[in-house]
Amino acid sequence: MAKLGGKTALVTGGGSGLGEASSEILAGEGASLVVTDVNESAAQHTVDIIRQRGGSAISLAHDVTKKDEWSKVVQTTLREFGSLDVLVNNAGVSGTSGLPMEDIEFEAWREVMSVNLDAVFMGCQEAIIAMKDTGGSIINISSIMGIVGGAGAAYNASKGGVRLLTKSVAVYCGNNGYPIRCNSIHPGYIWTPMVRNVVDFVPDVESEEELQAMLIERHPIGRLGVPDDIANGVLFLASDASSFMTGSELVIDGGYTAV
Ligand SMILES: NC(=O)c1ccc[n+]([C@@H]2O[C@H](COP(=O)([O-])OP(=O)(O)OC[C@H]3O[C@@H](n4cnc5c(N)ncnc54)[C@H](O)[C@@H]3O)[C@@H](O)[C@H]2O)c1
Repeated sequence: MAKLGGKTALVTGGGSGLGEASSEILAGEGASLVVTDVNESAAQHTVDIIRQRGGSAISLAHDVTKKDEWSKVVQTTLREFGSLDVLVNNAGVSGTSGLPMEDIEFEAWREVMSVNLDAVFMGCQEAIIAMKDTGGSIINISSIMGIVGGAGAAYNASKGGVRLLTKSVAVYCGNNGYPIRCNSIHPGYIWTPMVRNVVDFVPDVESEEELQAMLIERHPIGRLGVPDDIANGVLFLASDASSFMTGSELVIDGGYTAV
């Protein structure tokens, strides 16, 4: 039996990488998907794949940094599918990762915080309003870089913020009797467009192959992750298999943070 039959899941940044894989895996387990992205055609591409496989999905243009767009997206979800059961706050940017601290413009810092942290706050707020009577699961995509340093000030601070925002939401919902679980996921390096783009900022690395080899070295398991490694964690946290988990950190990192 499908693990998420009758449920509706909203995935931000669902047009690429981890968001795309998560949308496809959740739909494969019977959830109706609302795939949102600032890049609407990318979101629609994910929806096309889900529909080709017999799943149910719609795409919506959605800049997660805009409060009014959050309200519209959640209202459309409720109108189209009748409930919001799972929210995956996945959209994110690497921004200033790799730049020397002394060179980061404040506006660039704010841009990273706005997408990676402010938007997760807004998403949690909207999800609590939509789910507080019916229940649900909020899954925030943080990073190993929300646990250890090394990715640059803004990215580290934003992902560390997501880690504790998640715990705060979990405690708030529990204390108020809302049947909402909220957990964070902390992926190691996954070879997606976000990571490939960092090649231009890393000193002494000339090519994507060199970057990949350097990153593999840091994962005791001996490889980088693939998007499905994380999507399977999203499925676990979305489903009743994780019904005793809230405020937790699911680290899926090939051993990166074990060293
Ligand atoms: N790839 C990794 O190694 C890795 C590791 C740890 C955490 N993460 C996190 O996983 C998440 C997904 O990363 P990815 O590697 O799949 O990246 P990606 O670049 O492949 O996909 C990110 C998606 O987010 C969308 N997006 C960007 N800004 C947006 C905005 N303002 N509003 C809505 N959508 C927006 C992009 O259009 C894109 O489709 C991010 O939060 C990232 O920080 C990634």
